[in-house]
Amino acid sequence: MSRPTQPTNQRLSPVREPIIRIAQVFKQYRVGRRDITALNGVSLTIDRGEWVSIVGPSGCGKSTLLNLLSGIDAPDSGTVDVAGQRLNGLSEDRLAAWRGREVGIVFQFFQLMPTLTILENIVLPMDLARNGSNRRVRALALLEHMGVAELANNLPSELSGGEQQRAAIARALANHPQLLLADEPTGNLDSHNGKIVVELLRDLWNAGTTIIMVTHDPGVATQASRVVSMRDGEIVDDIAHIEQGACIHSRSMLLG
Ligand SMILES: Nc1ncnc2c1ncn2[C@@H]1O[C@H](COP(=O)(O)OP(=O)(O)OP(=O)(O)O)[C@@H](O)[C@H]1O
Ligand SMILES: [Mg+2]
Repeated sequence: MSRPTQPTNQRLSPVREPIIRIAQVFKQYRVGRRDITALNGVSLTIDRGEWVSIVGPSGCGKSTLLNLLSGIDAPDSGTVDVAGQRLNGLSEDRLAAWRGREVGIVFQFFQLMPTLTILENIVLPMDLARNGSNRRVRALALLEHMGVAELANNLPSELSGGEQQRAAIARALANHPQLLLADEPTGNLDSHNGKIVVELLRDLWNAGTTIIMVTHDPGVATQASRVVSMRDGEIVDDIAHIEQGACIHSRSMLLG
């Protein structure tokens, strides 16, 4: 079966509807007596249906940015609006409920619960969100879609890295999120399993999910519909693929 290997514009709707809008975001960390600036006045708008790669050298603020979008971390100043919610000032409880409903998160090191089976790992976020009644059936269907259903009753340690990441993507999709955030989803996989994960992301994107993905891998980054480059806590470039094989510089998108 052949699948497209180049980005296409089929998910880029002519009607732009922001799902993410962050404005003038600053974030510092105190390390000993030094303040490290992780984000230095970042503004970014991402529309529903985009697949955005975030790239840049180690330490430039990619994970910090992703953590602000999921509400795992909060900015020192600036506003963060994601999936219809202003995240600034939300209580931990309300953040957790919002995150469980609206956002799926995929990590570089999978972060499956080691003492739960793969199936239980997928059911857990549905239980936490009290979402649906046939949770095990839905979990199995998701694992089926990811090609790892036969491993449903195994523990994560009994799976390969690629299988664990596919299970982790199933977990991220448990509550039908409109937004998928992935930090180096292929960073710990060999190239074969990396390709499988990228194709699964492409399927999700084609089905309407908005995806924001941090990656070091240029070959993975350019699969997305837009590539945002960071350096020293700032966005320094922003390129949208508007049609197959063609790109435009769209720095102005940052201001829109
Ligand atoms: N919890 C923290 N405490 C202190 N400093 C932090 C913390 N998190 C991030 N930093 C610092 O903030 C800066 C940005 O870190 P971040 O993790 O966002 O970078 P990154 O672009 O994701 O890097 P990498 O590609 O290595 O994952 C770095 O200088 C980092 O050391
Ligand atoms: Mg990082």
